Amino acid sequence: MFFKKAKKEDTNIKLQKIPEHIAFIMDGNGRWAKSRNRPRTFGHQEGTKTIRKIALECNRLGVKAMTVYAFSTENFARPESEVNFIFKLPEEFFNLYFEELHKNNVKITVIGHLEKAPKRTQEVIGNAMAKTQNNTGLILCFAFIYGGQDEILEATKNVARDFKAGKIVLEELDEKMFSNYLMTKDLPDCDLMIRTSGEQRLSNFLLWQLAYAEFIFTETFWPDFDEQKLHECLLEYQSRDRRFGGLK
Ligand code: FPP
Repeated sequence: MFFKKAKKEDTNIKLQKIPEHIAFIMDGNGRWAKSRNRPRTFGHQEGTKTIRKIALECNRLGVKAMTVYAFSTENFARPESEVNFIFKLPEEFFNLYFEELHKNNVKITVIGHLEKAPKRTQEVIGNAMAKTQNNTGLILCFAFIYGGQDEILEATKNVARDFKAGKIVLEELDEKMFSNYLMTKDLPDCDLMIRTSGEQRLSNFLLWQLAYAEFIFTETFWPDFDEQKLHECLLEYQSRDRRFGGLK
């Protein structure tokens, strides 16, 4: 679309205009698998390879954080066998790719209700987080058992608790202070949201954080999303005129 199969260094991406935080809705795994007459779970498994690929490329380009929507609070409505399969993927993912990500200075974090996941899933994600906590490269954040409305509600309850305890003055509560009550408080603002597979909705993802982000919807299924497709999205992002409600 923007350039032929170019070498990474041949692309026209402006490194000084790289988004600080990219949010990914990794959609289309099931359809990708179905089109190959394979079970939906095969698509999720293949999708983990894309996470590795895109994380390493974001890290190389100097993106500070990427958040991937790995499991939403609504995904519990899927068949139990699929839910159990997805809960086992972090172990496989870190067995295969942890050393490489760690060596590349990637820091693993999580938002969502990890405590609702099976013990083993909690353990493997917890270990990856602990071992990479001092890394200073890309923050690879997994949204796991995450819902945007749930996050805002939780934050609101905690604000009310702190108000009741006299820890905050209501008049001082502004967007910046409220952001510190969210699960993403340690992440930079979201500049870009990319959803694969052609669906055009937010599906309860980072509702507060995406207020001023640019949205890119691509037809590509997540397992087929690669470095080249990421570059195309970055060029599209860099061509947009971001005004944040003001005038140029
Ligand atoms: C959406 O595709 C994808 C998901 C709900 C799960 C994505 C999860 C992973 C790629 C693995 C997570 C891995 C780790 C390491 C935590 P879909 O099933 O909705 O696809 P469809 O719309 O084609 O059915």
